[in-house]
Amino acid sequence: MVSTLVKKAADPLGVFDSGLGGLTVVRAIAHTLPGEAMVYFGDTARLPYGNKSPRTVRRLSLEALKFLEHFEIKAWVVACNSASALALHVLTDEATVPVLGVVEAGARQAVAKTRNRRIGVIGTRATVASHCYPAALERLGDGFQVTSAACPLFVSLVEEGWVEHEVTRQVAAEYLEPVRRAGVDTLILGCTHYPLLKKVISDVMGNEVTLIDSGEALAADLLEQLTARGLLAPKRPVEHRFFVSDQSDRFQVEGQRFLGEAVIGRVEAVDQSDLPWYDRPSRTRGHREDA
Ligand code: DGL
Repeated sequence: MVSTLVKKAADPLGVFDSGLGGLTVVRAIAHTLPGEAMVYFGDTARLPYGNKSPRTVRRLSLEALKFLEHFEIKAWVVACNSASALALHVLTDEATVPVLGVVEAGARQAVAKTRNRRIGVIGTRATVASHCYPAALERLGDGFQVTSAACPLFVSLVEEGWVEHEVTRQVAAEYLEPVRRAGVDTLILGCTHYPLLKKVISDVMGNEVTLIDSGEALAADLLEQLTARGLLAPKRPVEHRFFVSDQSDRFQVEGQRFLGEAVIGRVEAVDQSDLPWYDRPSRTRGHREDA
């Protein structure tokens, strides 16, 4: 990462996700760093990223980066696990500000928590196929036994609001069987949506298994990094801005479940009719010049 611009603590963070799910990361950041203002972009027109090819996820992520760079952001948070898994290196090369992804943060926290060195990882197909978590764990130390499982239906079940539904319990029992059998004592929730399934996942895995919320891990990392760079915003009233590439109404209603106590406020849809859309933030529908 090459930081060429002078950034201020008051500048916002740019947060990017394929859609709604990244709001769990916004929630974690707002909890740990209450003074940080955020500009969020959810690529709702093109989700899911979790079953797309690495090439496509990289292209979409770069477009999101170009869009968010118009907002004078001081750091870029890749909330989407699939984008962190497949595109982080490309984004880091292109960005003019620090880029933080959820994978390294989640892996570091798992290493800090595990006692028996058996770690489970669950995520989308793209995240699991990328082997990014096993690779990150290997960089952190030797001798970890990592068992991964893709849980693609979890995203749809969460978006349907079936977070404690019987069907979700059955799906979880099926998906989690390999990690349960491997005897892991720590399980990385490697997808933005999975924190909403903590109860069901914990019921299947047993209370003794520690669940790692990669959004919470990232928030802890961010606190450290911003403090080290003198860029931490003091606690203050903040208003976040939310942009989506499609259907802001659904985002507003559904998003509140992901965001928890913090309030979404106004959601603005970007205008993609005039490509490249990411180069023209002033033409976003409902763009506020005063924010
Ligand atoms: N945000 C994605 C992730 O964390 C889940 C949804 C999707 O597949 O786009 O991997």
